[in-house]
Amino acid sequence: MNNFSSLLIAWYKEHKRDLPWRGEKDPYKIWISEIILQQTRIEQGRAYYTRFVEQIPDIQALANASEDEILKLWQGLGYYSRARNLQAGAKFVMEKFNGFFPNTYEDIRQIKGIGDYTAAAIASMAFRLPYAAVDGNAYRVLSRVFGITTPINSTAGKKEFQLLAQEVLDKHKPDIFNQAMMDFGATHCKTKNPQCETCPFEHFCYAKEHMQQNDLPKKLQKITIKNRYLHYFFVKNGENTYIQKRSQNDIWAGLYEFPLLETTEPVDFDILQENAVFQKFFKGCSFVLEHNPFECKHQLTHQTIFAKFYTLQIAAEAPKFSQQTIMIPIADFDQYPVSRLMNMFFEKMMK
Ligand code: ADE
Repeated sequence: MNNFSSLLIAWYKEHKRDLPWRGEKDPYKIWISEIILQQTRIEQGRAYYTRFVEQIPDIQALANASEDEILKLWQGLGYYSRARNLQAGAKFVMEKFNGFFPNTYEDIRQIKGIGDYTAAAIASMAFRLPYAAVDGNAYRVLSRVFGITTPINSTAGKKEFQLLAQEVLDKHKPDIFNQAMMDFGATHCKTKNPQCETCPFEHFCYAKEHMQQNDLPKKLQKITIKNRYLHYFFVKNGENTYIQKRSQNDIWAGLYEFPLLETTEPVDFDILQENAVFQKFFKGCSFVLEHNPFECKHQLTHQTIFAKFYTLQIAAEAPKFSQQTIMIPIADFDQYPVSRLMNMFFEKMMK
């Protein structure tokens, strides 16, 4: 037994929560409690768990229950496919294991809806098999105490934390260890305001020493890719055209481009013409659309740009773009710094 696990287990003996599934050895009941707790907080989970196992007390009863009965017991928890998966799992155990809940990690892991964490929780609590159950609590405790900065939602992070948890696991008391980790993470080493002053790991916790409690664990930001629809106007005024410099607080800051209109949805030219900004641009200015717009999809790191370039021949009156728009000879275009997108259009146009 290592120092970490002995301190953790000593803490647990004093501070463990009184929960209805505590000390439970029936793998079926542990399974039900774990799936319910993936859906809800402990306080609400207690009542759901108690009702569920009273009404459907074993694997056979679950396999034979009606879907309505199961869904009624699950009502309010959300994510109803989990409830249906429970029954599919029960039927699988009836068929494949003659109704006996499997007693090896590998066999438990085969049950539908049971992933690495749940398999380890059941294997350790029901059969005392030495598998560390790594949930959000374990990620937080381990990253803080051992100063692990690998993001917990990266493939490398998942591997690293699993290995570390397995290394510090008390192989003789995996059931106690896993529950201790859950309780310690949930009530002591909390996301906000961890109680470092009374922590058993106070003297060697990396986060405490480096004051990084709020920076650990690290998580990769899931980036959302935004779609943008840009409508550029390549306006030919004899040998000249119009360009303008982009502002500083957006993509392509400081680069030049044709006057444009941005829309939140894809729109065609007839709709675009009804846009107030378009009408302001071309008020009193007659133009001829030379051909179909040149369309192009352009991928940036966090944005997908759907661009359309309209080539417009104007007659007499100039369009009214912004104050910053300048008129330049088309032949001088390549003297201005432009985005790759603008350059692509320009090269195509010059062919
Ligand atoms: N969260 C998920 N499973 C748990 C358990 N068995 N005890 C406490 N918290 C939990």
